[in-house]
Amino acid sequence: MAVIPVATPGGAYEVRIAPGLLARAGEECAPLLRKREVAVVTDANVAVAWRETVETAFSAVGKTTAWFVLPAGETSKSWARLGELLEWLLGREVERGDAIVALGGGMVGDLTGLAASLLKRGCRFIQLPTTLLAQVDSSVGGKTAVNMRAGKNLVGAFHQPALVLADLSALDTLPARELRAGYAEVAKYGVLGDAAFFAWCEANAAALLAGDPAAREYAVAHSVAAKARIVAEDERETTGARALLNLGHTFGHALEAETGFSDRLLHGEAVALGMVLAARFSARRGLMAQGEAERVATHLAAAGLPVEIAALGLGCDGQKLAAHMLHDKKMDAGTLPFVLLRGIGAAFLDRSVELAEVAAFLDGELG
Ligand SMILES: NC(=O)c1ccc[n+]([C@@H]2O[C@H](COP(=O)([O-])OP(=O)(O)OC[C@H]3O[C@@H](n4cnc5c(N)ncnc54)[C@H](O)[C@@H]3O)[C@@H](O)[C@H]2O)c1
Ligand SMILES: [Zn+2]
Repeated sequence: MAVIPVATPGGAYEVRIAPGLLARAGEECAPLLRKREVAVVTDANVAVAWRETVETAFSAVGKTTAWFVLPAGETSKSWARLGELLEWLLGREVERGDAIVALGGGMVGDLTGLAASLLKRGCRFIQLPTTLLAQVDSSVGGKTAVNMRAGKNLVGAFHQPALVLADLSALDTLPARELRAGYAEVAKYGVLGDAAFFAWCEANAAALLAGDPAAREYAVAHSVAAKARIVAEDERETTGARALLNLGHTFGHALEAETGFSDRLLHGEAVALGMVLAARFSARRGLMAQGEAERVATHLAAAGLPVEIAALGLGCDGQKLAAHMLHDKKMDAGTLPFVLLRGIGAAFLDRSVELAEVAAFLDGELG
């Protein structure tokens, strides 16, 4: 088992990474549980795959579980569901000292974390991330949110979990497309700050995606350690260090907006495309060699991720894509900071990028 400590001003906790952790969730979580009943939040798909395992694990340490099962999908990350969840938690008489358990991907984790931050002005929660994306990204760092009509993740809070158990076995039931999408966030840590890890990714992505346990453990542990370092330095995204995690996300967000945040393009797929665009845009600005940018594209394509926006058939121009960026919540006094690259492993924040330049670049990419 790999154990990665996360230390932020908002809380210190462990991320434990191993196969079989859900089957041991009772004993792993027991020190954080006071009452006999444990409130577990999940979604319908995860419930089918893992509810019984988790129920059995908690009953092995004398705990009963009460389940709040959301419909699967991003639309459940809503203000309305947040209200229902809070009413349900109050109905179960969850107290401040109790820990709420979030079993699922980023959707479940973000919603449950926000509910935990609000319930009685803040109670503890435990993340049991079941997607690769949630294991390497969303379960760590304390960002919680729901989506609003005006945009994604616009209402939220920083609220760190008390414990994260990343069970690598959970990835066995994850649809392959979701696994690949989550992999984009793994590769992101290499592209943004760790050329050696990117080289490891090039050599090991196939094994990881095929289920090799050692490759999975290394990739998840390495990614979590990278995120832990960044959030320890900049928990609330004020100094700029945490902003580097947005590599590929400004371009990606525009693509997600253009495709209506639908199954046409999963978040991780948008991030893969966004990283390639950030790399090519950096090359166009003379910051990095064109060959380095194409190395990013070649690797992500080999991992089964989309890398050419021309192939999406968007039917829009660069101007329209760039316009989506105006609604990005990172907009700051009229400028949008972009994460650009001086090379693989050398990302930096550039506040000088004009959207007109981005639009012209995107026109070229759209073909
Ligand atoms: N808080 C953060 O720092 C942060 C970071 C990145 C992303 N996010 C958020 O995370 C969300 C995306 O997370 P996600 O990609 O995990 O999506 P998700 O939670 O919607 O899960 C994706 C799909 O996989 C299914 N699923 C999950 N685990 C499964 C398993 N083990 N077996 C079978 N099916 C399983 C789900 O039911 C769902 O259909 C977005 O809302 C995004 O905004 C948050
Ligand atoms: Zn992301």
